[in-house]
Amino acid sequence: MNKRFPENFLWGASSSAYQVEGAAFEGGKKASQQDIINRDSFERFGFATADVTADQYHHYKEDVALMKEMNFSCYRFSLAWARIFPDGTGEPNPEGVKYYHDLIDELKRNGIEPIVTMYHYDCPWALVEKYGGWLDRKIVKDFEYYARFIINEYKDKVKIWTTINEQSIIVQYWTQKCYIPEELLDGKHEQLRYQINHHMNLAHAIACNLVHEMVEGGIVGSAIGYSPIYPLSSKPEDVMAMQNAQALRNDYYTDIYFKGHYNKAALLYLQEHDLAPKIEDGDMELIASASSDFLALNYYASECARYCPDDSSTKIRWSGVNRSGKKGDIDGFETHPGFYQMCKNPLLDTTDWDWAIDPTGMEYLLRDLYNRYNKPLMITENGLGAYDIMSPDGKIHDDYRIAYLKSHIQAMKRAMDYGVEMIAYCPWSLVDLLSTSNGMKKRYGLIYIDRTDEDPKECKRIRKDSFYWYKKVLESKGEDLT
Ligand code: BG6
Repeated sequence: MNKRFPENFLWGASSSAYQVEGAAFEGGKKASQQDIINRDSFERFGFATADVTADQYHHYKEDVALMKEMNFSCYRFSLAWARIFPDGTGEPNPEGVKYYHDLIDELKRNGIEPIVTMYHYDCPWALVEKYGGWLDRKIVKDFEYYARFIINEYKDKVKIWTTINEQSIIVQYWTQKCYIPEELLDGKHEQLRYQINHHMNLAHAIACNLVHEMVEGGIVGSAIGYSPIYPLSSKPEDVMAMQNAQALRNDYYTDIYFKGHYNKAALLYLQEHDLAPKIEDGDMELIASASSDFLALNYYASECARYCPDDSSTKIRWSGVNRSGKKGDIDGFETHPGFYQMCKNPLLDTTDWDWAIDPTGMEYLLRDLYNRYNKPLMITENGLGAYDIMSPDGKIHDDYRIAYLKSHIQAMKRAMDYGVEMIAYCPWSLVDLLSTSNGMKKRYGLIYIDRTDEDPKECKRIRKDSFYWYKKVLESKGEDLT
């Protein structure tokens, strides 16, 4: 097999605006829904707010220098809509616009290609107050206004764009990713999960068309949270359940991007259970008019599904979350009676937050998606959430993270050796940042941020062992993984 990664393969890491920037109310920025959601998590679970996170807003030059030291050729990050348009629409905020110019210029000066995500869970709070944010179809017009502005503003410097981060995960974990008012959480409004996703599909299509119209040499696609799904056993009922789960949890999203329509089995299931989105005249034509140049994948773990009988005592339930960071504390599994039930894979070890560790899943999904859609792929997230401890020598010996990243890079390489076209690899994350569901204790970074949930301190950057290892990997262009 071919030992070398292609010359133009991009190596970097990933982050998202509200999880890394901090400066939540500085430089003209107003609240996003994540500022509000994370205030609530602070009160309920003691997790950090989004006010400071890793303070990249004030440390971006230092962070770019660290990227350069590791030999990055790309950096994937998102723009905060509420930093550009504090009220969601109307007049842009010059300080916010300038901040991203400065960051992008600093990257380019250091030979690092920006990969820009337009939206990563952080809807401007003003739009939530105005009409409920993504719950209302009005957001599609406001997103178009925002997307047109940022694409035009940065089009000479940014050529690789991703639209909306992880629509599938937004459906599964909607209260962490969108602000949902209490009165809609009585179990009677679950259809809204799929309605939000439909609005996002319209916004995604518009954004793809805008990039193609406005950015010379630009490419665009979605970044999706994707877990391959295995059957719990080779019993035909479990294998069928796996296919049902694949349709509703994965193909429902990717078919939109590459076939321009909803996966039929998944849509029929949703229609039968009053969960299907309301689709207006012209929506499917708009969706079909947009083409994605690639699919960006956020891969952390594989999943497992088993047969679930259709009896009246079992109700639909949604994905559980482990908030404690103690293995086995996951709060239940997604269940769709008569269709499938997600479950633990007894053959795989997990992180302390119950995410199955499975490098083979990486090879599996890359080969499967490439075979089915025949489009280039990139990894925009992949990483291990862990409790990192600073040793008495002041260092962070995260050999478990090195083992995780190494095995996943090897799996990606095997997929490439079998013909899969890959553009980039960006692990999650550059620095420790605010987890979407577990505060600051669950760390992902190659660079340690010296802070706790309670105390942001100075956010001092400390290189972890994985930093030095990744630097060596990139120096050798992926050949030396030792
Ligand atoms: C992805 C998201 O789903 O997973 C990131 O795009 C997120 O925003 C990452 O941080 C890890 O999840 P968590 O919940 O551990 O932060």
